[in-house]
Amino acid sequence: MIILGINETSHDASISLVEDGEILFAGHSERYSKIKNDWYNNKEIYEDVLNYGKPTHIAYYEHPQLKRSRIFLRGGASDWKPNISMNLPVKYFSHHYSHACAGYYTSKFNDAVIVVLDAIGEYNTSSIWIGEGSKITSVHKKNYPFSFGLFYSAFTQLVGLKPNEEEYIFMGMAAYGDWAKYFLKVNEYFPDLKKQKYNFHKGIFDWDMPISEQDKFDIAAAVQKVYENRLVNFMSMAQKLTGKRNLVFMGGCALNCAANTMLWRMFDDVWIMPNPGDAGSSLGAAAALYGSHLNWQSPYLGYDLGGKYPVTEIITSLIRDKVAAVATGRAEYGPRALGNRSIFADPRDPLIKDKVNLIKKRELFRPFAPVVMEEHADKWFDMKFSSPYMQYAVKCLQPDKIPSVVHKDGTSRVQTVNREQHPGLYEVLSNWYAMTGVPVLLNTSLNIKGQPLLNDEADITAWENTYNFTICR
Ligand SMILES: [Fe+2]
Repeated sequence: MIILGINETSHDASISLVEDGEILFAGHSERYSKIKNDWYNNKEIYEDVLNYGKPTHIAYYEHPQLKRSRIFLRGGASDWKPNISMNLPVKYFSHHYSHACAGYYTSKFNDAVIVVLDAIGEYNTSSIWIGEGSKITSVHKKNYPFSFGLFYSAFTQLVGLKPNEEEYIFMGMAAYGDWAKYFLKVNEYFPDLKKQKYNFHKGIFDWDMPISEQDKFDIAAAVQKVYENRLVNFMSMAQKLTGKRNLVFMGGCALNCAANTMLWRMFDDVWIMPNPGDAGSSLGAAAALYGSHLNWQSPYLGYDLGGKYPVTEIITSLIRDKVAAVATGRAEYGPRALGNRSIFADPRDPLIKDKVNLIKKRELFRPFAPVVMEEHADKWFDMKFSSPYMQYAVKCLQPDKIPSVVHKDGTSRVQTVNREQHPGLYEVLSNWYAMTGVPVLLNTSLNIKGQPLLNDEADITAWENTYNFTICR
């Protein structure tokens, strides 16, 4: 059985291909169409996935009729339908079950609680499951309008950012704000798990105060604080209901790396797969149909540029320019560049941040993330766990030595890497460490603000021509 998993008609369409538990392909539509968060899969991604095998079954990540009824009931478009055209048997799985499967079946756990928090699926917005062996059982569900994700998105929109897309910018703004200023006011919108009745789908329509530039940062800080408080409440409930000590966390909310760090204080072990949002659900749906753990090795599952990891070229570029861009091998499945479509830079230079921000045309307050050799991580960052997919913000212990990867609040969103996970990137870091005494590099995505990560050869040529900068490959 070769299963084609599909996620589309929501933000960030994707496709996965799974044969007998082996993940042959997993990629994002946006990387092929060049449309950020593309809602639909396209001819190019279908053509690419077929290079890896001919599917015999299709697994779809939602129940389209149920979602359609919900969209219809709230007055949205009623002519919406899934865009599946292949003449193969199709099996539909619920939105939250696909999230749960993407998480649990890529984890190493045989016994865990699975928590899914997002904006909305068909009707479910929050769910708790138990994973035991190959079985996933539903324990608890909450429906729209209760929603962690819609709460966060509505406030993202209130400060003038794009909901369902720019929550990560809003999250970064929190470090620049005073959370106490608007805490009580924001808390009224989400006072506890029982009393949240506000319909965030309509936005924060009753905000009755003018919002200055600084207020935007203060609101972001208050929203992050309220979100973290409610998250701890929800995770405590999940623990009480199941008694489990291993956590699988999924849904778009699992991209909140500042809040994710708190989970390590509540559970013995935590797994967040590198693509916990809806784009990960094409793999989740395929895993649901397979019905058991997948052979999860790495997130490098998308378009293949081929080539050997250009270690020498990267080091040469770093010494010469303090910056090195790299595009090689298979593209990352998930929103973060983890070394195959990355820009690296010297984290010791405080001015390098502005240089990279100008290249990427990003807001100057946006933080950059470090990649660190795993065995050195706890000497540079306050962490007792590894973070191979850049999912946790932790306190930097030596901020004076690597100022360009430390956020305003003293934290860094760390990626740890060991030789097994990525031999080429590990070698780059080892060489850099031998030369500088610092086992850390700045790592950011190889893209331009608002555009998807670079994917193929044509993207590389276009980028090089635009910036007059050679990409290592
Ligand atoms: Fe979702």
